Amino acid sequence: MDRKIDELLFALTQNMTIAVSGEKLARDLGVSHSTLARWIEKLRNAGVEVRGEIFTGYRLTRVPDVLLPQVFRPRLRTHRLGRTLYHFYSVDSTNAFALRLLGRGQNVAEGTLILAESQTAGRGRMGRQWHSEPESGLYLSLVLKPEVPPTLAPLITLGCAVALHNAVEKNTRLDVDIKWPNDLLIGGKKVAGMLAEIQADLDRIHFLVMGVGLNVNHSVFPEDLAATATSLRLASGHAQSRVEILLDFLEQFEGLLDRFHTGGPEVIVSEWTRHSSFANGKRVEIADGSRVVEGVTRGLNAVGALRVETSAGRVEELYSGEVRKWER
Ligand code: BTN
Repeated sequence: MDRKIDELLFALTQNMTIAVSGEKLARDLGVSHSTLARWIEKLRNAGVEVRGEIFTGYRLTRVPDVLLPQVFRPRLRTHRLGRTLYHFYSVDSTNAFALRLLGRGQNVAEGTLILAESQTAGRGRMGRQWHSEPESGLYLSLVLKPEVPPTLAPLITLGCAVALHNAVEKNTRLDVDIKWPNDLLIGGKKVAGMLAEIQADLDRIHFLVMGVGLNVNHSVFPEDLAATATSLRLASGHAQSRVEILLDFLEQFEGLLDRFHTGGPEVIVSEWTRHSSFANGKRVEIADGSRVVEGVTRGLNAVGALRVETSAGRVEELYSGEVRKWER
């Protein structure tokens, strides 16, 4: 159904200056008047401003920043990532949708992209929720089937952070840091997070769903997030294009994955190290399940684990966890 609503929105964007007859829209889309009215309502709920009703005709009163596949598909510069695409106005969670697709046992193409304008149950790391304000952020999941051993899976999430870092810096000129393992920070506040959900056996990854949430045009955050979260709009002082960032991110990520497959872990380890102030010499406190490791970071090991030197002089290698405190 969302694909049909995309068609409706595309038709409206092609006729911005005039009201398009509801009669004609319904006929072109092959639906009844009541279905058309329902879809218009769904667009309005997603933040799209549409004036009028079925008998007077409909007119967009503001160009919506919706990630319309009709608009950005022709501009994709990738071979795999985003070539198969699902676009939702609202979904529970793009990761959950991807897992449902994979769970049905049908063949899901490598690089399948699921995009949502908003999520009703966006998932964060450590069982948290991800704040997913409509039409303001990038909320996406990519289905990856990397032909590497499961021990190297963390490198893919580090690579995803590098790709998003590069796409954001290129488009905004903002200074972006990567907080281990894959949060993006601007001025010490979180602007993006990633959630990888993986199915693997001992020697093979069946799939990895890479979920990415980027705060792009949020102008305000709920009270509990306001002190720690920011958006590109808040950090730069003006709205940013989700489409441009998305196109660059997909291109960067595909390029990095290709180089990783031919060049090995060092490709990602070195790129991540170049862009993260957390790689070396940073005093941190990291929670990993029930244990807490305090110390100074000493780079990534060959498979992407973070090395932390404790005050006892021991070097711990961390494969997952969360940096709870760090020196600014
Ligand atoms: C984090 O806690 O830092 C990870 C946040 C990941 C959020 C994204 S939004 C798109 C994708 N779908 C989800 O349900 N979560 C991820």
